[in-house]
Amino acid sequence: MQEEKLTDTASRLLVINLIFREGMLNRSYMPENEVNFSRGLEGVIASQTKIGYIDGLKGHLVYRGYEINSLVENSTYEETAYLLLYGRLPTRSELDDFTSKLKERSSINKETYDVIRRIAGLSHTMSSLRTAVSYIGTHSKLGDKTDYESQEEMGISIIAKMPTIVAAIKRAVNNEDFIEPDPSLSYTENFLYQSFGERKSKEVTRILDSMLLLHADHGMNASTFASMVVISTLSDMYSAITAGISALKGPLHGGANERALKMIMSIGSPEKVPEAIGRMLESKEKIMGFGHRVYKVYDPRAKIVKTYADQLTKGTPLRKVYETAIKIEDYMIERLGSKGIFPNVDFYSGIAYKAIGFEPELFTPIFAVSRITGWVARDLEYLTNNRIFRPRSEYIGESEIKSYIPIERR
Ligand code: ACO
Repeated sequence: MQEEKLTDTASRLLVINLIFREGMLNRSYMPENEVNFSRGLEGVIASQTKIGYIDGLKGHLVYRGYEINSLVENSTYEETAYLLLYGRLPTRSELDDFTSKLKERSSINKETYDVIRRIAGLSHTMSSLRTAVSYIGTHSKLGDKTDYESQEEMGISIIAKMPTIVAAIKRAVNNEDFIEPDPSLSYTENFLYQSFGERKSKEVTRILDSMLLLHADHGMNASTFASMVVISTLSDMYSAITAGISALKGPLHGGANERALKMIMSIGSPEKVPEAIGRMLESKEKIMGFGHRVYKVYDPRAKIVKTYADQLTKGTPLRKVYETAIKIEDYMIERLGSKGIFPNVDFYSGIAYKAIGFEPELFTPIFAVSRITGWVARDLEYLTNNRIFRPRSEYIGESEIKSYIPIERR
């Protein structure tokens, strides 16, 4: 039998699965707490994918068979987005068509700009982003359609609009006029142009493009999973992406780079690091930008982003921040490296974004400008073999059935 070839854990899961399917679960021979329990679903495989994989012990990140370093060296954000979405590198004409599609869909209407202006500064920029994407969904003609083609069209449209929305949020926060997308520019050039009102150097544009490419997909992380859970109900792509944005906002996920930079800047200089970080560790604080659920070695993305932070801060007032970060890394590796705690991608990305000219409140929205492709690609892939997500929780509450006591007698 095929089951004989499976490992103990896999056979156990198979048996449990069969028992559930047949509706045979009965506390007398299968107590609920015997079902495999994994806090935070750590290690649980809940879907199959051809999009990418992470080797957390060797420090590899692969998109559709290509190592991330080779994509950073040779590819662009648009080309990598095509690869993630369609499974292979495009030909020249396929890439031109895809890029044109993105450009055609990159504008947002006046009402959306108005909403962004009205809510600017009321709460975190990620809340503005969540609201803007959700708002666009309310006037999409496809919003209620659940067929694959409509979901794909919605996904491409959101990818295309993401830089426009995030740049608009930046300008609204700073009380500046909005700048509409320029169809002669690439995805990243347009994002920079709409954000700053001018074109940045080739070097800065290339670095930001690579950073967007590096963050585009990363397994079934919290925001990707949140988005997949929503799409698995056959809800629409706008709702799924809004869920992804909501999850990315949290400081344990996308919000870490903003906090990491604030922490590095508040420490101020390399010589203050041992005392400041030592104190934080004593009080069991998590050091933002360190540790990862999957990587137990140096995050390969962090290695690359560190070189960008180095390049961008040379000869600038941010150099001291970079040097302080280097000292924090050395100190943390000495203290926690043996536990598999190393810098993650968020540790140096804040310094690089700041050196480009973005303020910390924009860091997580920039992450979304990149990760949008991973969300859409994984949502679409999941739809091709959809099964609604429905894990269970282990009940550890009262075991006795109680009699109801009327409120006046409690
Ligand atoms: N600072 C200090 N100690 C840490 C850190 C940290 N950043 N991360 C983990 N540890 C400690 C844990 O407390 C644990 O200690 P213990 O053995 O005494 O209990 C030990 O190291 C092992 O931790 P893990 O179980 O490997 O961590 P887990 O997988 O639960 O958490 C997480 C991963 C949430 C990313 C965590 O490392 C963290 O909170 N980091 C800071 C936030 C951050 O940088 N998030 C960005 C992640 S990357 C991304 O989302 C793009």
